[in-house]
Amino acid sequence: MDLIVGNWKMNLGGRDSLQLIEGILERFKKPLPGEAVVCPPATALFMAGNRVEETPLQLGCQNVFYERKGAYTGEISPDFAREAGSKYAIIGHSERRQFFSEGPEINRRVAAVINSGMIPILCVGESLEEREEGNAWAVVQNQLKQGLQDISTEKLCGLAIAYEPVWAIGTGKSASPEDAQEMASRIIEELNHLQGLRVLYGGSVKPENISEFMTLAEIDGALVGGASLKADSFAKLIYWEK
Ligand code: PGA
Repeated sequence: MDLIVGNWKMNLGGRDSLQLIEGILERFKKPLPGEAVVCPPATALFMAGNRVEETPLQLGCQNVFYERKGAYTGEISPDFAREAGSKYAIIGHSERRQFFSEGPEINRRVAAVINSGMIPILCVGESLEEREEGNAWAVVQNQLKQGLQDISTEKLCGLAIAYEPVWAIGTGKSASPEDAQEMASRIIEELNHLQGLRVLYGGSVKPENISEFMTLAEIDGALVGGASLKADSFAKLIYWEK
């Protein structure tokens, strides 16, 4: 089933998040063709969770810490995100890797997400330089290995991987469908032992180009930043047409 995920990043406070949720819900006229998930900032999670409860809209969080509770000032517990209503958790987004130096411990975050009962959306993707040097797959493969190591196959059942080339995020310049397809098939090959694996594409997805990616057999969904911040365009992404 398609999985369309809106990553609101640090763009909306509680009030604006609720308003956007209202706008999206108003546009749910027909049954959803797939799963629709919004990931508001942590400060809006609880309110958003209350609002989407018993609606077809689902909730995700943008990151969590790898410990479940304790003296970790400023961090977000996976258990608390789950309590707020999150079903999914984005982990290892390139902005987390870039601005917050996340790296090897992403693995522990993925494990913590699973242990708290959520589904991880592990983000992987190469920089422009790495692509130009011909290292795109080596980088992605390494991120997969590092992110998933020592987590049992059973626990990883239902995992989502978001392939997001760093140079395509927020730039308006998406990957070509061919590049996305090639990377998605490599990811599937690498993780072919995992049941229920879903591969999403992310990076400048918008209503005008989503069908180029969603019509590819290897791609099961999209992780969307900018185009998820307006109810109209998010609704168009959910009801994308061939
Ligand atoms: P974008 O962001 O759609 O604005 O490129 C995608 C993401 O960062 O997940």
